[in-house]
Formats: sequence, C-alpha cells, structure tokens
Amino acid sequence: MNILILGSGGREHSLAWAISQNPRCRKIYCSPGNAGTDQIATNIYINLDCNTDIVNECRNLSIDLVIVGPEKIFAQGLANELKKENILCFGPTKEAAKLETSKVFTKEICKIKNIPSAMDEVFDNRENAKKYLSDQVPPFVIKADGLASGKGVLVTDSLKQAHEFLDMIFDGKISSNKNKVIIEEFLEGQEMSLFLAIDQYQIKIIGSAQDYKRAFDGDKGPNTGGMGAFSPSPLANENLNEKIITTIIKPTLDYLKEQNIPFSGILYAGLIIKNGNPKLIEYNVRFGDPECQVLCTRLGAQILDILLCGAENKLSDISINLADDLALTVVVSAVGYPKTVNSDIDITNIVNQKYNEPVYVFHAGTYMDGDILRNSGGRVFNFTSRGMDLKEIRRLIYSELRKVNNKKLFYRMDIGEKSS
Ligand code: AMP
Ligand code: GLY
Repeated sequence: MNILILGSGGREHSLAWAISQNPRCRKIYCSPGNAGTDQIATNIYINLDCNTDIVNECRNLSIDLVIVGPEKIFAQGLANELKKENILCFGPTKEAAKLETSKVFTKEICKIKNIPSAMDEVFDNRENAKKYLSDQVPPFVIKADGLASGKGVLVTDSLKQAHEFLDMIFDGKISSNKNKVIIEEFLEGQEMSLFLAIDQYQIKIIGSAQDYKRAFDGDKGPNTGGMGAFSPSPLANENLNEKIITTIIKPTLDYLKEQNIPFSGILYAGLIIKNGNPKLIEYNVRFGDPECQVLCTRLGAQILDILLCGAENKLSDISINLADDLALTVVVSAVGYPKTVNSDIDITNIVNQKYNEPVYVFHAGTYMDGDILRNSGGRVFNFTSRGMDLKEIRRLIYSELRKVNNKKLFYRMDIGEKSS
C-alpha cells in the first residue's frame, strides 16, 4: 500500500515508524513530516490547508490510505472530501469532528444523554462570565470553544488570572471562537486517557495513557501540548473500561448517529476517575501527541491494520493485541515552550549519540539544514522505551537523556514517577 501521513510531530514519526514495519506497507509519504520521518518515508510538501491539493496529491501518488495527525485537518473536512473520491481515511467528517472542535457541542451531548461530566455554564458575554465567576469557589476551570491548539483551558485559583483569561478569549486571542466560553465545575480525581478505534459497527479499545500537560516538574507551569506520557494508565481495568464505554462513549456515538453524523476514526477520551467512576473532560478525534508515541510503541505494526480496517468499516475482522508491557515517553523541548522558543538550534549531536538499543528517539519539530539537524518548533524529540517495569524504563530513558546536554533544551524529570 501507498500511505500518506499528514502532520509533522512526534506523533507522525511514531506512526510512520510503526507502519513501516507492516508487510502491507509499500511506501510512506509524510507531509510535511520532519527529519525523523525523512529517514523512513519520503517527505513532501502539500498545502495542508487545502483539501483539493491534498486530494490531487493522493491521485498523483496513488495513495491507498491517508492518515491524519492534527485535528485541524479533520475540522476542515478532509475526510468528507476523501470519501467522495473513494480514498481511504480513518477519521471523522467535519461534522463529527465537532466533538473536539466545539466543547460547547460536546457539553450539550453530555446534557442530552446524561453523560457524566463536570457541571458547566456557557457564556457569550464577558461581563456575565466574570460576574458568575465571582460567585464561584476556586479552582476555576475556564474553557474556550473552537480550535485552540491546546491553549484553550485554564485551571486556576486566581480570580485575577481567570478574568484575564476570559478577556483573552473574548478578545479572540485564544481560540477560533471568541464568542463563547465555558465555566466548569472543578473535578477532583485522577486523570486518564482512553483511545478507541470506532467504525460504523464496532468500538475497540486500542490503549490507555496518562499524559503530562504542564511544562515543569510537579505539574507546575503552563499547559502544553504534552511533555510526556506512559501507557497503559494504571487506572485502566476491564471494569472501568466497560463503564466508560457504556456511560460515556456509546451514548455519545448514539447521539451522533441520531443526528446523522456518525463518528468514525480514533477517539481519544480525556477522563477524570474518582472512586472507580469516570467523568468526561474532553474528546479529541485523533491520536494524542505524545500519547501516540507510547501507543505505537506497544501496538507496533498492527496500527496499520487498525487504521485500514477502520477506514473500510471492517474493525470486526481484527482482534487487537494489547501488549502486557508498558511504554513511556519523555518530550525534549526548546526552552520557552509552550510560549516563544528559539528555532534553528543546532541539535545534530543529540541524534549522533549512541543510544542503548531499546530507546527510540522520535523526532518532533526538526529539520535538516544541509548536514546540520535543527529544531523548527517547541517540542523537539521524544525519548521512548518499553518494558515490563516502569521504574526500569524510566531509568533507561533518563540515563540516555543525560546525553542531551544542551542549555537551549529542557525536559521534565518526573514523567512516570508517581506510578513507579
Ligand atoms: P482539556 O483540554 O479539556 O483536556 O483540559 C486540559 C486539562 O485541564 C485537563 O487535562 C485537566 O487536567 C484540566 N481540566 C479540564 N477540565 C477540568 C475540570 N472540569 N476539572 C478539573 N480539571 C480539569
Ligand atoms: N497530548 C494532548 C493532545 O494531543 O491533545
């Protein structure tokens, strides 16, 4: 098969790495990809904002399957267009992608279908939102509607910060929708992420993970796209998974079917668990980054069978082999991430080091400048490994990370620590 992967992060590198090991795979193209994908695939330029350009390139390259990383591409309706052209792609239509692109839409589903989630109020006026907030007790949870590249949520004890965030949302500085804001009840409990492959007939669990969203150790600092993850989540078990599917996932899918916008693709449910009971925090309609890196490390080549069978509505034909070990990834970022960072840092020596075999270095924002490897963005590498013992995986990854001796880069020291 000829496969086109869209995106440029560690997520896309790990997908390319896992898929390249499947005998069904003939050739992989990545657009735009990064210096890591360039070693196992062919990086090509496509204007990813334009569905027509993507479809035309699929025709030119005889692409059999398109794999999409970023939600924005689903939000712009690529899956709708590919379906019309009979090109396989496992992912939601623009309409079903609203599960991620509109938190207000998802909260409405929760109310209609009685899905456990935080109580909330939606505001379309900043003064009313501020007034409401003044009567609440901290921590305050404020969420923008629309696409926000991971910056759309603030959890804070400070009323001042909460007001500033509301101003930023209504001034259009946070997300693609500056007219709506959600103020939510703060949920106590432990977080976990569950990943599902969903086609017209089947719901299959493909893994669980715990991610680390804050920039610094001890969950300090601003929210980021993710500074590390491990899989499976220590909270996941058959009983809880079953509860999540019955009380959260199925009612959501039922609602979308009733609206004639059925969901198909990878669904990533962000959950809070308290006393064994799950509540939904958010949906994403794609793989997480860096969660994908730990899922792919454990699923290996079968990820291609999942994405292909999903796209053909044949998930019932496969049984997914969930490995009984663990995987962990630590993200190396440029100093300043998630705010302004320096690009074009020379990071050649990091990949030229000799690493112990079981540590995979997935690239994120990297590119080749002649013979020099440089960073193009905030998140740069993902040091990833798997094994039977989380402590041992941590030891291995962190001993390799000592070789990343560059003052312009940083990483968290406590990924996987609490569970070890
Ligand atoms: P989200 O982008 O909706 O996943 O939110 C980002 C992070 O904010 C989550 O991973 C949680 O840590 C936190 N969060 C979001 N909503 C709530 C809530 N209602 N109660 C507590 N924490 C929350
Ligand atoms: N790591 C969180 C996300 O991909 O949304």
